[in-house]
Amino acid sequence: SDPVRLGIAGLGTVGAGVVKIVTKRAETLAARAGRPIQITAVSARTRDKDRGVDLSPFAWEDDPVALAARDDVDLVVELVGGDSGPAKSTVEAAIANGKDVVTANKALLALHGQALAEAAEAKGLCLRFEAAVAGGIPCVKALTEGLAGNRIERVMGVMNGTCNYILTRMEDAGLPYDTVFAEANALGYLEADPTLDVGGIDAGHKLALLASIAYGTRVDFEGVKLEGIERVSIADIRHAADMGFKVKLLGVAQMTGRGLEARMSPCLVPASSPLGQLDGATNMVVLEGDAVGRIVMRGAGAGEGPTASAVLADIMEIARGTRLSTFGQPASTLKAGTRAHSGGP
Ligand code: NDP
Ligand code: HSE
Repeated sequence: SDPVRLGIAGLGTVGAGVVKIVTKRAETLAARAGRPIQITAVSARTRDKDRGVDLSPFAWEDDPVALAARDDVDLVVELVGGDSGPAKSTVEAAIANGKDVVTANKALLALHGQALAEAAEAKGLCLRFEAAVAGGIPCVKALTEGLAGNRIERVMGVMNGTCNYILTRMEDAGLPYDTVFAEANALGYLEADPTLDVGGIDAGHKLALLASIAYGTRVDFEGVKLEGIERVSIADIRHAADMGFKVKLLGVAQMTGRGLEARMSPCLVPASSPLGQLDGATNMVVLEGDAVGRIVMRGAGAGEGPTASAVLADIMEIARGTRLSTFGQPASTLKAGTRAHSGGP
């Protein structure tokens, strides 16, 4: 069969992880997809950087937009990051040039996902984003596929690994915020702009994306009520622990009689509960459907391997010929998001 030819834009933590898996597992991936998965071209800012992977077999493009226009690329994997600039131009160029797209970029999709999905779907292309929400946890596919027969009643979870890492290290090791922030950075968890993480914005992006799939509404990031963890102190964490609670950056989205209610904010959860026992950069996504009841998914929410794993899930889906809508139904049929806030966090 014809190979799927990948163009990988961005070779940082996630991009290098994807190159490693595609390279080392070529035979297994081909057997599972029924066709070879090949990287033909790659792009990043600095050509001569050591990324721990052999890039010599692949064509190099300085400009990811040029990569998205190459005739020898069928599927563009956007791992540059950012809600505008080169990431947005690359995805737009890929769609304009008739390429399917896989991205891990929740910021881009939370702000422009509606327009990008409509543009892709109008041309019969796939735009998929499993890695954008909760790293290695396949929660996007759980909602779009596994739970497609349900009316979703609640989406809930801890969706930012950096914040969970910082909160649990502050509690367990009694380390100050600045020290654990530096640790999270060294582990590759942080966004290029870390205020997205600690401000709750990154987790808000993810909640907005899941809510769109769950409730069939247009992505409405502005409608998510947000508060980050910057004002959580070690004293807060200790007082909570004394009372048997832990502090978690928790997101909840549910459809109420007044519309879609979505919030991401620091919450007290019982220390003995599954959420309370969630340590490190781990994420937890809880989905409640009328037929299935409650499903709890727990796993690594950030980092090279887990995120690359989710990117590969989308690549494999497209390679197998499964042509799914970005948000579980054609983007043009998503309803306008009605918003309802139940007061401040
Ligand atoms: P990195 O910052 O590690 O990598 C970004 C890559 O993009 C780098 O290779 C960089 O090049 C390249 N790049 C940046 N600007 C340009 C440009 N103008 N032209 C060409 N290449 C450019 O990011 P991550 O790998 O951590 O994240 C990538 C995406 O995945 C982001 O959208 C992020 O939100 C998302 N994500 C990340 C997770 C994680 O755990 N890290 C988890 C889930 C999603 P160079 O290397 O030369 O500087
Ligand atoms: N910065 C993000 C986090 C990466 O810490 O969860 C995964 O989306």
